[in-house]
Amino acid sequence: MSEKTFPLSAPELKAFAEKHGTPFHIYDGRAIRKRAESMLEAFSWTPVFINYFAVKALPNINILRLLHSAGFGADCSSLPELLLAREAGIPAEKIMFSSNDTSDEEFLAALDMEVILNLDDESYISDILRLNGKLPETISFRYNPGSERTGNAIIGNPVEAKYGVTHSQLIGCYQRAKELGVKNFMLHTMVASNELNEDYIVETARMLFTLVDEIKQKAGIRISQLDLGGGIGIPYRPEDKEISFYSLSEKIRTLYEEMIEKKNLGPVRLSFECGRTITGPYGYLVSRVQHVEHKYRDYVGLDASMADLMRPGMYGAYHHITVSGKEKEKADHVYDVTGSLCENNDKFAVQRTLPAIEKGDILIIHDTGAHGHSMGFNYNAKLRHAEYLILDDGIYRIRRNETYEDYIRTMLKEPQRLD
Ligand code: LLP
Repeated sequence: MSEKTFPLSAPELKAFAEKHGTPFHIYDGRAIRKRAESMLEAFSWTPVFINYFAVKALPNINILRLLHSAGFGADCSSLPELLLAREAGIPAEKIMFSSNDTSDEEFLAALDMEVILNLDDESYISDILRLNGKLPETISFRYNPGSERTGNAIIGNPVEAKYGVTHSQLIGCYQRAKELGVKNFMLHTMVASNELNEDYIVETARMLFTLVDEIKQKAGIRISQLDLGGGIGIPYRPEDKEISFYSLSEKIRTLYEEMIEKKNLGPVRLSFECGRTITGPYGYLVSRVQHVEHKYRDYVGLDASMADLMRPGMYGAYHHITVSGKEKEKADHVYDVTGSLCENNDKFAVQRTLPAIEKGDILIIHDTGAHGHSMGFNYNAKLRHAEYLILDDGIYRIRRNETYEDYIRTMLKEPQRLD
């Protein structure tokens, strides 16, 4: 069971919403820091441990800075994400560039910034040679185990997933990299998304530890760091159970001792690229009820929309909803909770049992701290909303509301004739 709480009391939230407006995302920076620190503590037995926070989950410089000060690096998958990480003050050696279908422009920027390159395909070796004349000293390859693992609905079944180098390509990639002068070899994989089964992640560690041995035997190459990717799940539903970093870490430790230390394959640094489990549960979308409508179903219409949180519409994902101030009231009404897009998928919840809701109520949509605001968009010319961060000494604005002027900034009011 995971209890769904909110860091402000109902009167505090009411006063805040009246003063600053709704909707908005708000993050509990104190809880995020604690979660980050607990991950580092749980894995402190490793030779070196780092979590490269997946910037895509919550790409706000203030969050990246907070996580960097807690000891995290950044995992970036695009040029703007690299620039965000740099602007947050994260040093190059703590930035992993884990893109796919990567453009020349992105490779050039990543090479220039000297971040760690995690290559998604064997052909990228030639791309880098063409662009740079040589490979960097450190290189990582992303591994796709194919039918060896099952994957899941969000990340896809590995055999059908576009990511990573296959088993039969992997040794060749390392051999070629070695011939081209690479000195430090890393291995990465990402075979789960929102995974709540700890043992699935332990199996990923086992798979990587096995590969360390195989790569040593077949290519004579020592892997210095293993990156287990992101994908640790969070308890979106109250009945789900959170993954404990401590218990996960202990299981991985047992395997490390058996499969790496005993075989003299170490030391091997470990890393993750978790986003969701670090910030997800500590973010909330706060929205006010604009209408309660009675049609063939009962609808609660919010001032937020799928443009603020697309996970329910895109994946049918569950996000828990509470009504501020009515937490103790009996949930005896069934509603579809909708946004205002001209799009019937614009629903935060379908046939959800909630207390009786009135116009003006404030709804809290939970677990929006990862893949929430970041997946927002501008359909229906909806403007994107503010983000706030709670710290020890108060609440900070970390993104203002988008304005109409922001929205049309890239639009040319008169067509520009091209030569
Ligand atoms: N590293 C790589 C290479 C990734 O592709 C991802 C997510 C992560 C790390 C972070 O995964 P996390 O720990 O945050 O689950 N937008 C979707 C999830 C797509 C995940 C894509 N890759 C969602 O809303 O659930």
